[in-house]
This record gives sequence, structure tokens and C-alpha cells, in this order.
Amino acid sequence: MKFNHYPLLVAALVLLSACGEGAKGPATPDAAVTAAPPTAAETTAMVDAVATAGDEASVLYTRACAGCHGVTAEGVGEFPSLAKLSVKDVESRLQAYRAGETVGPKSALMAPLAKPLSDEQIAALALYLGS
Ligand code: HEC
Repeated sequence: MKFNHYPLLVAALVLLSACGEGAKGPATPDAAVTAAPPTAAETTAMVDAVATAGDEASVLYTRACAGCHGVTAEGVGEFPSLAKLSVKDVESRLQAYRAGETVGPKSALMAPLAKPLSDEQIAALALYLGS
């Protein structure tokens, strides 16, 4: 007899878990989840975000970097993963891009993002991203 309630229970659980998902919602902007390169306007918005995001690395990363490198820095399409870089790698590469140096074949895409970064922001991003 007990088992008669089982399907109801399953339905309730499914509904509940669906609610959970909905409540969390997608916390990321669309640009961050598509593999397409950002438009010029999106890139400009990310460059501008550097100035307003402050030194908090997670905020800065989400607003200025995730659009190209992915929400978890896993890399998107032609944009490299940052997941395996050391703290020192991230720091030295950001300093190189900021100085206008060529690091890889697509440094021109990265340079405008690195230009406005402060020493504090680079250090915070290196600690946040580097392993
Ligand atoms: C417009 C897209 C774009 C945005 C936004 C962007 N990057 Fe990049 N990033 C790139 C590309 C493309 C490369 C590879 C450049 C090259 O070939 O040298 C790169 C390379 C890097 C590298 C070196 C990776 C390696 O393996 O050597 C680091 C570190 C990095 N980005 C960090 C960041 C951080 C931190 C931000 C946010 C402040 C950011 N990027 C925002 C496109 C972007």
C-alpha cells in the first residue's frame, strides 16, 4: 500500500529540484557561455569594467575576463584556458600584455584588457587564477 505514494513522492522531488535550479538561475552573462568571440562593443564593456570593478579578483574576472576565457577560466573556443597556469605565469603574462609585449599569436586581443590593470589588480588576479 505504501508504494502507491512512491510516484507522487518522485514527482514532488523532481519539482523541488527543478525549483532549486530555477532559483539559482544562470549567474553568467550570455557572452560568457557562447564560444563566439565577443563583439567590439562587448570587448569595450569588458575593458571599461576593469576601471570600475576594483581589486576584488572574482568580480574583476567575471566582468572583464570571463567573456573570453570562460566562467571557470576553462577557455572558450580560440581563447586559452587559464586553468593550469601558476600564480607567477598569470602575473608575468599580464605584465607582458600590459607592457605591449607579444606573448602568443593573439596577444593583440589580450593587450587592451591588460592595459588598464593596476599592479594590485594583476596580483589579485594571479592569486585568484593561478594554481
Ligand atoms: C577579448 C577577449 C579576451 C579578454 C576579455 C581577456 N582575454 Fe586573456 N587572452 C585572450 C587571448 C586571445 C589570449 C592569447 C593571447 C596570445 O596569443 O598571446 C589571452 C591570453 C591570456 C593569458 C595568457 C595565457 C597563456 O596560456 O599564456 C592570461 C593569463 C590571460 N589572458 C588573462 C586574462 C585576464 C586576467 C583577463 C581579464 C582582465 C583576460 N585575460 C581577458 C583574450 C582575452
